Amino acid sequence: MSLLLVLDSLVRDCRQLAAMVKHLSKKTLLITSLVLNISLCMFLVPVSARLQRLHHQLNTNGSLNFLVIGDWGRKGWYNQSQVAVQMGIIADRLDIDFVVSTGDNFYDDGLTGVDDPAFDESFKYIYAAPSLQKQWYTVLGNHDYRGDVEAQLDPMLRKRDSRWRCLRSFIVHTDIAELFFVDTTPFVDMYFNDPKDHKYDWRGIRPREVYLTNLLKDLRSALSKSKAKWKIVVGHHGIRTTGHHCDTPELVTHLLPLLEEYEVDFYMNGHDHCLEHMSCQDSKIRFLTSGAGSKAWLEANKPYDKCGVKFFHHGQGFMSMKLTKKSARFVFYDVFGKALHRWKTSLKKLHTSI
Ligand SMILES: *[C@@H]1O[C@H](CO)[C@@H](O)[C@H](O)[C@H]1NC(C)=O
Ligand SMILES: *[C@@H]1O[C@H](CO)[C@@H](O)[C@H](O)[C@H]1NC(C)=O
Repeated sequence: MSLLLVLDSLVRDCRQLAAMVKHLSKKTLLITSLVLNISLCMFLVPVSARLQRLHHQLNTNGSLNFLVIGDWGRKGWYNQSQVAVQMGIIADRLDIDFVVSTGDNFYDDGLTGVDDPAFDESFKYIYAAPSLQKQWYTVLGNHDYRGDVEAQLDPMLRKRDSRWRCLRSFIVHTDIAELFFVDTTPFVDMYFNDPKDHKYDWRGIRPREVYLTNLLKDLRSALSKSKAKWKIVVGHHGIRTTGHHCDTPELVTHLLPLLEEYEVDFYMNGHDHCLEHMSCQDSKIRFLTSGAGSKAWLEANKPYDKCGVKFFHHGQGFMSMKLTKKSARFVFYDVFGKALHRWKTSLKKLHTSI
């Protein structure tokens, strides 16, 4: 563990060093220390660039149950608390193994630091039901990048609430399924080229091209090695969505081909404040949006010709997923805990080509 921390900080140094080299190329540098550090970095970076893999032991040997929620942290406002209560009831009924958060965890601008009271006010005290005292595997959304992004990744937060597990990109391995969490915000050009009034915390991301190339390479490697029955990819931004934000072209270009090639079963995202199930003619992937954790009712459903919209709900709610070795079923619930849409398939049906 401590060795990992040391490696981690060294890698961080390496990244800073890389940035330094770019800016200081005209100035004199302490060549010896530079050479030493660079050789150290060359040795370290490829090792730690791999996606961290977490093993999750399931409650029961036959099935994996979890909830998916996105775009939520508003100190209980905009029906966040009502959704949380219903999540508690459904989580109890399903005896869930964990919760997945699709990002935009804290509005409007992420956390201010590791001791930001918003962590308690928007997370700890809101999702208080005993049935929700499970691991929360969470990615970052664009709003999280507007605050102190490293605070959400800091192990200190796990001292405040041991459920919290937020990494940039990582894998959760279970006996039934593998979940690949992908940091999608750095893919989106607009946040870099046209940030408007917003400030994004790009520490750890620059140089951006290197970050994205490594991420895609690591994801490809992990997907190609996966022997899981079910492969699920989780990101904040939508790939196929009829919601307010529309498809994310950068993900259609760079991420979608990987998901197709390695026969991912589900892509789950937030970002659009709605619940949505899309199925596209040219793809076996099911595109599921669960981004209705608090503020909703904002956006119009736009006409969409690329895919069939199986289900769309503008209001607040969340999703549950139940996987066994042979079947998958998911349900979308509204703010009252009412099941609005159910879908079920067997492994065979989803991958007819196998
Ligand atoms: C696992 O399966 C066996 C056989 O079906 C069963 O007896 C046992 O109770 C199960 N264990 C759990 C933790 O569900
Ligand atoms: C809360 O949910 C109810 C029921 O769907 C809805 O009528 C109300 O507008 C919601 N409130 C907000 C702020 O979205």
